[in-house]
Order: sequence, then structure tokens, then C-alpha cells
Amino acid sequence: MRHIAVLTSGGDAPGMNAAIRAVVRTGLEQGWEVLGIRRGYAGLIAGNLDPMSARDVGGIIQLGGTVLGSARCEEFKTVEGRQQALRVLDERGVDGLVVIGGNGSQTGAHALSEMGFPVIGVASTIDNDLYGSGITIGVDTALNVALEAIDRLKVTASSHHRAFLVEVMGRECGYLALMAGIAGGAEVTIIPEVEADPEAVAVELRAAYERGKPHALAVVAEGSRYNAEGLAGYFKKHRERLGFDLRVTVLGHVQRGGTPGAFDRLLASRLGAAAVERLAQGEHGVLVGLIRDEIATTPLDVVVTNKKSLNPQMLALAHVLAK
Ligand code: F6P
Repeated sequence: MRHIAVLTSGGDAPGMNAAIRAVVRTGLEQGWEVLGIRRGYAGLIAGNLDPMSARDVGGIIQLGGTVLGSARCEEFKTVEGRQQALRVLDERGVDGLVVIGGNGSQTGAHALSEMGFPVIGVASTIDNDLYGSGITIGVDTALNVALEAIDRLKVTASSHHRAFLVEVMGRECGYLALMAGIAGGAEVTIIPEVEADPEAVAVELRAAYERGKPHALAVVAEGSRYNAEGLAGYFKKHRERLGFDLRVTVLGHVQRGGTPGAFDRLLASRLGAAAVERLAQGEHGVLVGLIRDEIATTPLDVVVTNKKSLNPQMLALAHVLAK
């Protein structure tokens, strides 16, 4: 009988619970024991892991966040931390680990794999910046949360003929901002990948009024050089000359806490189950993701050394549809 363990790490994402549930139930179906590790790599180092039954993961598919808890663990970035993690896994007789998370988590998974331990990753981050999966767990729900806010802001913006700026998450990747910009009908979208000129932003927002729009809305990714703080400061400083105010809303972690929608529940169920199936087939050192609508694995060294790029056609589309 095999003993595998599962953890969630890094920023939580709606759908992580569905992935945990799928790992546990698919593992039990194989006749294995499945241990849940609390609070990511920090819990692993501390030996905080317990067997999970099918009932332990009952009633969680509809919950946001992660019932196992998550953490960003500095200690795991050290060799000593990883060696301690391996000791814990060895003492508990664990012979396979499923890591549900984004870039930082899969970098940790890759490091353990390089040390000889059978690890398999499951692609999960609201940022959708993970190489090896066209879409990751949590993105769709986070996007819908952002859209709900944007739709509401447009209502009040229209009533007052105001300009609004909405900041969405995305430290290094503008995927959420770009998709929210297109689906939310923003006049301007600002992402880390393309440096924005605040003067040009002001010109585009003003042009929206001149075209007869009752509102002007810009969506910006938090990681952009001119994010909400930067743009708000610039607009405040040049208010007289620019001739209008910018109301600012930072959505922040609100986007991470949503109730997972159908897409994320299904994606997470498929990826979690596939991770166990691939382990059963002897595959490890890979990330399980969705590529062109099919479950696919990508070696973790490829995942952590490549950057996912934005589709330039979507950038062009955002611009055209903003008219
Ligand atoms: O999980 C990804 C993410 O939500 C990023 O979009 C954001 O920059 C970061 O996590 C925030 O991290 P924390 O929750 O540790 O503040």
C-alpha cells in the first residue's frame, strides 16, 4: 500500500478544496492512504500531517480557500528546510507528494523532486502565470469576482460621469487585469508587461467622455509600474491640468476568497484526480495542467524555468473593444 500526502501552498485559490477532495478520494480508490499536510511547506517541516478519509473531504467542494491551510514558507527555501521536510516524509512512510499551488509552490516541488522525492504538482493560482497550464485553478472565479465589482463601479461611475480606476491582483502577470478589462468593458487596461504612460491614460479616459460615454474606467494590475497607488498619486499631483479626478478601488484579496464556480470545481476535480492517476502510473517530477482542453503534464524543471506570456491578440482586442 502506498502512502501519499497532499498540501496547498502559496496564495489560496478558489477550487483548491475541490482539488484536495479529488486527490484524497482518487487516492483512496487506489487503495492508498492519503495524508493531508496543514499550512503548506511550513506544516510539512513541522510534521503537521494526518490521514484523511473520504468523509474528511465531504462538503468542501463548494468552499473557497483551502481546508488544509496555506503559507508562504521562507524556511522551505533553504536546503536545511527541505531536508527536514524529507525527514518528515520518510518518518511517516510517505512515498509521493501532491503540491497544489502556483509558481513559488511548484519551485518548491521541483526542489524536492531534484532531491529524489516523487512529487507531482497541480496548477493552481488566480494569477494564471504558471507555465504548463493554459488556465489554472481559481482564475475563473477570481475573474468573476473582479467583474462583479467592475460592473457595480460602472453603475456609480455612469451616474456621476466619473473616472474610476480598479486595481486587480497580478504581481508579475497582467492576465487577470487584461481579461477583466475586456469582459468588464474597461476603457483602459494597464498591465505589468506593457509600461503605461499616465499622460496617455488621462488622454484615453478623457477621450471616452468625448466619445459620449457616461463613465471612464481603467483596470490596472497591482504589479504594474503605475498601479493604483502610482496613478492616483500622479492624477492628484496634476489634477488642475488634467481637469478630472480619478476614484480608486483596490480589490486586493477579495478576489481570492470567492466561492469556486463550476469551471474551477471541475478543473480542480480533473487535475487533482489526474495527479493521483499519474503517480499511480509512475510519473512524477511533473506539473498536471490543462493544455488545449486536455489534461497534460509538463516537467517541473520546464515549468519553473519558463514564463507564460500573454496572448498579444487579447491585448489588441482590449484596445479595439474599448472604443
Ligand atoms: O496568489 C497570487 C497572489 O494573489 C498575487 O496576485 C498577489 O500578488 C499575491 O498572491 C499576494 O500574496 P499574499 O497573499 O501573500 O499577500
